Amino acid sequence: MSLSIPEIVQLLSSRATTWYGQEAVSQLEHALQCAHLAELANEAPETVVAALLHDLGHMLSTERTAVPDHEALPAKDDLHQYVALPFLRSLFPDAVLEPIRLHVDAKRYLCAVDALYWDALSPASKHSLELQGGRFDDAHVHAFEDLPFYAEAVRLRRYDDLAKVPGQPTPALAHYAALMQQVTTA
Ligand SMILES: [Fe+2]
Repeated sequence: MSLSIPEIVQLLSSRATTWYGQEAVSQLEHALQCAHLAELANEAPETVVAALLHDLGHMLSTERTAVPDHEALPAKDDLHQYVALPFLRSLFPDAVLEPIRLHVDAKRYLCAVDALYWDALSPASKHSLELQGGRFDDAHVHAFEDLPFYAEAVRLRRYDDLAKVPGQPTPALAHYAALMQQVTTA
């Protein structure tokens, strides 16, 4: 069970008109904005690729929605952070896979350690936080900080939260396809 880089590019391209949750950007725009923010912050290429692909699980598991449906908040956690991993494991190193795997827990972590973080979450993100288990307690905070790539996951999370700006210019997907070729282990 594996995807090729051209198949990933195809999947991302196909989501140019599919909305990102309850936000006013497409899934492709969200992925490109997230990767661009990581790049602007001088992240390693692996972290930029993780930012690009962090929601690939949504694209593999959810139905397309032609317009944003602000009334329809999800009723359960889709566990999308895990869905893409089997498809990516033979292509990319842990430096790409682990920030993807941890990016939801990173939100639970940030809500525990940063008093302002929860306040700034969008209503949709506050809703999904509860479905994902809510903010971490102290034991979870310390266990999370022991994980490799937790810091990259936390930074990815902050790019994720900002990557929702309608019309924001970014490099084209081809730019990030080249970056995927650069970091692949296949
Ligand atoms: Fe996201």
